[in-house]
Amino acid sequence: MTPEERDAFFTVHRDLPREGPGEAADVHWAVTQLGLEGSLDVLDAACGPGADTLVLAEALPEASITAMEKTPHFVSETRARIAQLGPRVRAVEGDMAQPGGPYDLIWCAGALYFLGVTSGLQGWRDALKPGGAVVFSEPVLLNTPPNDAVCAFWEEYPQITDLAGITAQVTAAGYTGQAHRMIVGAPWEAYYTPMQARIDMLRTQSPDAVLTAALDENQREIDRWRAAPDQVAYALLIVTPE
Ligand SMILES: C[S@@+](CC[C@H](N)C(=O)[O-])C[C@H]1O[C@@H](n2cnc3c(N)ncnc32)[C@H](O)[C@@H]1O
Repeated sequence: MTPEERDAFFTVHRDLPREGPGEAADVHWAVTQLGLEGSLDVLDAACGPGADTLVLAEALPEASITAMEKTPHFVSETRARIAQLGPRVRAVEGDMAQPGGPYDLIWCAGALYFLGVTSGLQGWRDALKPGGAVVFSEPVLLNTPPNDAVCAFWEEYPQITDLAGITAQVTAAGYTGQAHRMIVGAPWEAYYTPMQARIDMLRTQSPDAVLTAALDENQREIDRWRAAPDQVAYALLIVTPE
């Protein structure tokens, strides 16, 4: 990415509520499933602009929460959003491959694929306390084989697999799947609606060629999702080391 393309990316993505599909109910589901409460240590790995960091802080009011993100711009956005929460919630610039810890919970929405599910989970084993869990979301095929619209959406993620395939990657890492739920429909709408509004607004401001290319690329992604909104999905999985 050139500096100009990076600028264009952040012109589109600056201050969007989140950087991937998801909703507060996902966090509350995981907290309930795991029976989490009290003074826990929690990592929001690759927190983006911090949407889930806020929900984790609300759902776990006594927890110490670290939001880790490699992109400085998103660290700043997260810091601004958590500013009122005090020192128990902090945002740090860092590589989630070296997450520190140990943690009772590692939350990772839409980002474990950067490390690879199996290698990422293997690397996090020592970052978990005894009894700790990882909750992560990962692109998933609901129907195999996928139809043309789903294939078009995931064109740049050829390693996508179905839930059985993700579970096999979890098992290969030495973890056990405890529960899962699908992220489909409304959580994607929540991600794309603000992005669509941003694109529409920027189109009115005579964007230059680099920004126009970024707008077109994001619009293509939204259009492809709109062609298959009931079938483009992430799986949210709760997993624990064996
Ligand atoms: C699709 S976004 C999801 C962000 C956020 N979890 C959310 O749902 O809004 C993926 C994020 O992962 C971050 N990221 C990628 N690799 C990373 C790494 N090794 N360490 C920390 N953050 C990383 C990117 O900067 C980006 O903000």
